[in-house]
Amino acid sequence: MTSSAPVNQPELAGHPHFHYRGGVLHAEDVALDTLAAELGTPLYVYSRAALAAAWQSYRDAIGGRPVLVCFGMKANSNLAVLKEFARMGAGFDIVSGGELQRVLAVGGDPSRVVFSGVGKQAWEMRMAIEAGVKCFNVESQAELRRLSRVAHEMGKVAPVSLRVNPDVDAQTHPYISTGLKENKFGIAIEAALDAYRLAASLPGLKVVGVDCHIGSQLTDISPYFDALEKLLDLIDQLASAGITIEHLDLGGGLGIRYTDEVPPSPKALLDRVFDRLQARGYGHLHLMLEPGRSLVGNAGLLLTTVQFLKHSDARNFAIVDAAMNDLLRPSLYEAYHGLRAVTPRPGATQEYDVVGPVCESGDWLARQRQLHVEEGDVLALESAGAYGMVMASNYNSRGRPAEVMVDGAKYYVVRQRETIEDLMRGETTLP
Ligand code: LLP
Repeated sequence: MTSSAPVNQPELAGHPHFHYRGGVLHAEDVALDTLAAELGTPLYVYSRAALAAAWQSYRDAIGGRPVLVCFGMKANSNLAVLKEFARMGAGFDIVSGGELQRVLAVGGDPSRVVFSGVGKQAWEMRMAIEAGVKCFNVESQAELRRLSRVAHEMGKVAPVSLRVNPDVDAQTHPYISTGLKENKFGIAIEAALDAYRLAASLPGLKVVGVDCHIGSQLTDISPYFDALEKLLDLIDQLASAGITIEHLDLGGGLGIRYTDEVPPSPKALLDRVFDRLQARGYGHLHLMLEPGRSLVGNAGLLLTTVQFLKHSDARNFAIVDAAMNDLLRPSLYEAYHGLRAVTPRPGATQEYDVVGPVCESGDWLARQRQLHVEEGDVLALESAGAYGMVMASNYNSRGRPAEVMVDGAKYYVVRQRETIEDLMRGETTLP
């Protein structure tokens, strides 16, 4: 990607489709100052080329091997984003009936959909069986019984995997680590064989796979292999018990670069997984992955405009028009998102905390950043394509941002900014 960026405006880490040109940050060929002026802020901006590049990195890693990639759409469920993945041939990992409807709305193929989640309701099961999803990733014996009953009543057979909790430490933030004993997820590996026996005995169910997901934003590959060996041991035991499976689903979790992380590539993961499968005599198994963040995280930015600068003895604050309701990750996980001025000013910088208008001290977006900013400047929060808009709320009666997809020199508003009327829709007062 060419760029006329001066040395103090390096390419954005991990974001080849966002770059400075003529001193202005661009998404592909669209200048973000113009976009902010035309559409207002806060504004989520996605790059179509970045989505395609992330998808291609999985395709390249797969080569000719039997792998189904199901986009963990909880990371970003905008219809335009889903449509891109559907067009490119992705499957989808869903966690609700609402997500299933989004997949169907963009013409996604239900036979490439896996249904995850600890609390599936009967209506959601019915909807997914009706649609013909590839697999239910079941997380408890109670869920097996409910699914069996629902499928049996419909006169159908539901394909199931059990989500096994392998009790490995994914070495990530505790809120996004899911493969430890104390997490609510999955069936403890020691209890898995019994649960499989139950699954095999219940009407309306067909055992097809083994599933796990150990956590998110993994920057080290080794926890996957701790999990994999345990799952292969389980598959050995299942075979001895006469239960054969067709696929192994290793979940999502590959990290992205927010600051200086060097996350493992899909290829590094897949090459080693297939080595281990071969070595253990399971070269024939189909593999599934459920990546979310690594497909969309660095394909999006959140633009925000500086409203006021406020200087106290202890801190300098840049108060911006985006807040924790728009991008929750900093408040919830103390997550770091890179921050750039769209049109950087020359000259000395000062240390700022970048905060929103919401009435909470926890409402911050970036802390202790060196900036030279003035009122009205547009800033870009990086790596906001995953778990950004999907976690936005209406707290403080703030409408959620618009979303725009850039494609070369064109852009498309793929979700309108919420209006005040939107915020009050469905509410009534008493007579
Ligand atoms: N599969 C399952 C069963 C999951 O629970 C998740 C994410 C994924 C796949 C996708 O994982 P990924 O590839 O995106 O790491 N809100 C948090 C992340 C929560 C992840 C929840 N599960 C954040 O903002 O960091």
